[in-house]
Amino acid sequence: MIDQFGRTVRGLRVSLTQRCNLNCIYCHHEGEGGISSEMTRDEVLRIIRVAKSLGVGRVKYTGGEPLLRRDLPEIISGTIAMGMEDVAITTNGTLLEERARELWDAGLRRLNVSMPSIRPCVYASLTKGALAEVFAGIKVAKDLGIDIKINVVIMKGINDDEVDELVGYAKEIGGSLQLIELEDLNLDPEFFRRHYFDLTAVEGRLDTMADRVEARSDMNNRKRYIMGSLAVEVVRPANSTHFCANCTRLRVTSDGKLKPCLMRSDNLVDVLGPMRAGCSDGEIRRLFEGATRLREPYYRQAS
Ligand code: 5AD
Repeated sequence: MIDQFGRTVRGLRVSLTQRCNLNCIYCHHEGEGGISSEMTRDEVLRIIRVAKSLGVGRVKYTGGEPLLRRDLPEIISGTIAMGMEDVAITTNGTLLEERARELWDAGLRRLNVSMPSIRPCVYASLTKGALAEVFAGIKVAKDLGIDIKINVVIMKGINDDEVDELVGYAKEIGGSLQLIELEDLNLDPEFFRRHYFDLTAVEGRLDTMADRVEARSDMNNRKRYIMGSLAVEVVRPANSTHFCANCTRLRVTSDGKLKPCLMRSDNLVDVLGPMRAGCSDGEIRRLFEGATRLREPYYRQAS
């Protein structure tokens, strides 16, 4: 699937639920609205199977909090069984301590943990959750052998002074670190205005700390700073024509709609409705192709 801007769809980002056991003040909710119906495991796997037949090789499961789904291990093992080359999840980590083992047994080898602060008080004020649970979950997952990437949205006046500590922690656990610029999506405008933090200075600082800097051609060409065994990535989607020009992912909302762009909700393509009405795999394929045709870079050079 190649869109009209020459971008191949290589990855699906599938939201499995909008439910979450935390309430993060900065959360963009993956650009989705309120609580809605969820796809069953078989519906998810059918969508993935069709995407695979169209050349998609990577799947990331997100939420809400994907671990709130009891059937997440079966969804993961089903996805791996059909030969997807890369299967990962993004989780808040609070339920990992008790469930990492099941995920490992299902075949999961890589996950991202959203951890917006390394300071318990700041973490609690941002998420209403307990950082100790996240640390415990990360430890269990890491000890099993799962690769861990820590996701941190950096916000002015909240956690913009934590970069060095985060680098230290990521090194200590043998994980990697992803620093993300706050996106203005589903947020209180006043919160965004107050806490948006431009990561240019952080990139400068990482430059001085890094042994070398790489660009990830597979993921929006984002930069990756290598410091010994640690890799630090910086994600700056806001107003970035470069980011959009290198986007290779298509989203699936928790209620079964193909979502061509994180930032837009006006061009969704419903798959779950047709599936429940008994459509064929060929029809699902055409819905994928239609959604791919609707893909446009949200930020692009004025022509
Ligand atoms: N801006 C940027 N990134 C965000 N995330 C959640 N909300 C925002 C936002 N407003 C990130 C979190 C999470 C990932 C799924 O999305 O870091 O790890």
